[in-house]
Amino acid sequence: MKKIYILGAGPGHPDYILNKTKALVKSVDLVVGSKRLINSFDCIKKFLLIKTDFNTLFNEVEKKLEDINSVAFIVSGDPELYSLTGLIQKRFKAMCKIEIVPGISSVTYFYSKLQRPLNGIPILSLHGRNFDLKELDSLNEFVILLGNKNCLKDLSEYFLNSNKEFILGENLSYENELITRGKPEDFLNYNQSTLSILSILDN
Ligand SMILES: C[S@@+](CC[C@H](N)C(=O)[O-])C[C@H]1O[C@@H](n2cnc3c(N)ncnc32)[C@H](O)[C@@H]1O
Repeated sequence: MKKIYILGAGPGHPDYILNKTKALVKSVDLVVGSKRLINSFDCIKKFLLIKTDFNTLFNEVEKKLEDINSVAFIVSGDPELYSLTGLIQKRFKAMCKIEIVPGISSVTYFYSKLQRPLNGIPILSLHGRNFDLKELDSLNEFVILLGNKNCLKDLSEYFLNSNKEFILGENLSYENELITRGKPEDFLNYNQSTLSILSILDN
């Protein structure tokens, strides 16, 4: 049976990629990933770039699998946290054996930088998802994977004049990593990186 690997690449810097993942990436016939993550490896020769139209991408992978035996999807952070894993499983589980290799989530990396325990902290995502911000009212501390540019503005407006502290982590693990603390009003017009996580906590 053909084999599909879903490999967590960690937050992005090569130092945070598991050896197992590095070895698998070298051994498979084809690697699929975003340009950012492909660039985290120095050994990838054949790759397909992830597109926003997953259906077209999966069709392309299925076609390639007629001639090859193994494909590795590289995903950011950990594959079990707000990732492509579910979509890949749904599409390929009937025709391929799937193996998932974990990675260091951007959230665990962020909290280790903050030296804060993650125990019991809700992890939410605004990456391509919407939810009612009122659901956040009852939480003392939570962390959010930010999506488009408006997310931070919307959250800053929602928590304006509250006693919340915002801690923004941008480009985590890269040389231009930035961790910024402030009040919601400090982030109203903040031009955040597309790669950002926000922790919101009671002061
Ligand atoms: C589709 S989600 C995938 C999350 C991933 N599975 C994980 O465990 O980190 C992508 C989001 O993760 C966050 N992210 C991933 N890598 C990051 C990094 N190096 N720095 C900051 N945020 C990051 C950003 O919020 C980004 O929009």
